[in-house]
Amino acid sequence: MLKTHPEKHQQLLRSKGVRIVPMERKHAAGAAEMHLLAFRGFFLAFLGKGFLRQFYRAAAGHKETVGYVALDDGDNVVGACFGLINARRFYRELLRKRWWAFALHSIWPVLRRPAIIPRLLRACKHEGYPPPFSVHPLGALPSTAVRPGSQSTGVAIALMRAACQEFVRRGVHAVYLTTDANSNDMVRGFYKAMGWKFIGYYTTPESRRMCWYVWLDPAVKWAPDTIPSAKE
Ligand SMILES: CC(C)(COP(=O)(O)OP(=O)(O)OC[C@H]1O[C@@H](n2cnc3c(N)ncnc32)[C@H](O)[C@@H]1OP(=O)(O)O)[C@@H](O)C(=O)NCCC(=O)NCCS
Repeated sequence: MLKTHPEKHQQLLRSKGVRIVPMERKHAAGAAEMHLLAFRGFFLAFLGKGFLRQFYRAAAGHKETVGYVALDDGDNVVGACFGLINARRFYRELLRKRWWAFALHSIWPVLRRPAIIPRLLRACKHEGYPPPFSVHPLGALPSTAVRPGSQSTGVAIALMRAACQEFVRRGVHAVYLTTDANSNDMVRGFYKAMGWKFIGYYTTPESRRMCWYVWLDPAVKWAPDTIPSAKE
């Protein structure tokens, strides 16, 4: 059962003049800023705003992505949610068509910390960390972030709802996301309250302990063992 309060949050969003719209290229700078605010310490954030802006410019409106932003009454991005229909196809195309832009924006981070080169090379082949889960197609929702001043007003709920509806519209009825396993109770509680199911832990090559959550379209009749049982 969802522990969120959709009506209360919808009213709050309306009263603040916040609206949810599909992410477009013009929102790339705002989406990059959200990413930096939310994912400090993660690799893409280390690569900096220029790199992220390129990333979101390429991702916005791409056939393999799902993206929404929340805009305030001054059209500023106050939240963003980004998903992938097919991560492999998206990243391959990105590298093939825009490698020069990403290479350019990697120069400064590499000069700052040359030790990131192996990680950067690995990122070129990176397709996320899909869970041990045999549902196909399986979408991914790698980032949802809301500006601190706009949190707890229903922005993330509205963004994620829009994203899940879009996944379904495009034939994807199961989506996964990952988040930090440790010192992250608020975010994990949020996903649970949104109806996402915890399905297990994994550790990144950088020794970061993470966990998987999965969303299954409630309109589909799933076999009872679709989600492997996992203890948090
Ligand atoms: C996590 C995050 C996206 C939530 O965004 P938000 O806009 O504040 O969330 P919403 O306002 O849409 O939803 C909040 C509602 O969810 C529910 N909720 C949130 N956390 C909850 C928890 N721990 N337990 C139960 N319910 C919870 C509540 O109903 C809450 O409403 P309330 O505050 O009025 O009680 C936001 O805190 C954020 O950007 N954090 C930093 C980035 C981040 O960590 N992102 C996730 C990385 S994978």
